[in-house]
Amino acid sequence: MTCENCCIELIGIEKSFGAQKVLRGVNLPIRRGFTTVIVGESGQGKSVLLKHILGLIAPDAGQVIVEGRDVTRLRRSELKELRTRFGVLFQGAALFDSLTVFDNIALPLRERTRMPAAEVREKVRATLELLDLSGSEDKYPAQLSGGMKKRVGLARALQLDPEILLFDEPTTGLDPVRSHEVYQMFHETQKKLGYTSIIVSHDIPKIFNLADYIALLHEGVIQICATPEELQRCEKPLVRAFVERVMGRMYSSEIEDLALAAGI
Ligand SMILES: Nc1ncnc2c1ncn2[C@@H]1O[C@H](COP(=O)(O)OP(=O)(O)OP(=O)(O)O)[C@@H](O)[C@H]1O
Ligand SMILES: [Mg+2]
Repeated sequence: MTCENCCIELIGIEKSFGAQKVLRGVNLPIRRGFTTVIVGESGQGKSVLLKHILGLIAPDAGQVIVEGRDVTRLRRSELKELRTRFGVLFQGAALFDSLTVFDNIALPLRERTRMPAAEVREKVRATLELLDLSGSEDKYPAQLSGGMKKRVGLARALQLDPEILLFDEPTTGLDPVRSHEVYQMFHETQKKLGYTSIIVSHDIPKIFNLADYIALLHEGVIQICATPEELQRCEKPLVRAFVERVMGRMYSSEIEDLALAAGI
């Protein structure tokens, strides 16, 4: 591995679907214990990139190094083992409607471990407290707000103590204020637990201050992966155009939030 502080490194990833070349040599280091946010226009290949990290899609060329091992060369059983280190939260929170909050969160522990029931109860209770969900354990998903559902989804993703959490557009369907709360909660939980977090997001203004690193995927390559401050200082025209667009949106998004808060 060339990056010492990285738990994941994508090196020269290329991927086509038929005649469509989606990834054209993606290089991306993911630093351990930090939050990296992947941004880019719709259809640029952000979700495809995440799937490479989980070994759900094989690249045409390049390497996906996770904890020093090339995912593309692992056997099925090794891949399965590796995936237990990941927590994954996709667009919808994907909760089971017929299960209570408690049972939804306990599911990975019951299915994937032999943990005794009393310990399961204890662990789930501790997470409920961490994510401010105490008192909601007997509710069903239909009785929860959108933001609460996301918190339950995160609680479930945390049960197996993942080293790495992947979020693909985790605030889809939430209003601006709720999205902000969800990102704030992700940020605080990440700082408390210290896992590595990779977030694909369209909510760039909101995520800007919470990201340790921002990676811009455009035309099949990572144009820049840098801290928000470095990103703002970058002279590359394509990056500058992106930052200016985002800053414009940050301003209008603040107005939107204020209007919402004022009930306008
Ligand atoms: N399994 C697949 N088979 C064929 N084409 C695919 C497949 N998965 C993705 N694609 C194509 O690859 C391109 C990138 O898709 P991807 O879902 O990664 O975009 P994205 O950046 O996540 O977009 P969005 O922001 O809208 O979620 C799209 O044109 C999509 O149609
Ligand atoms: Mg996507």
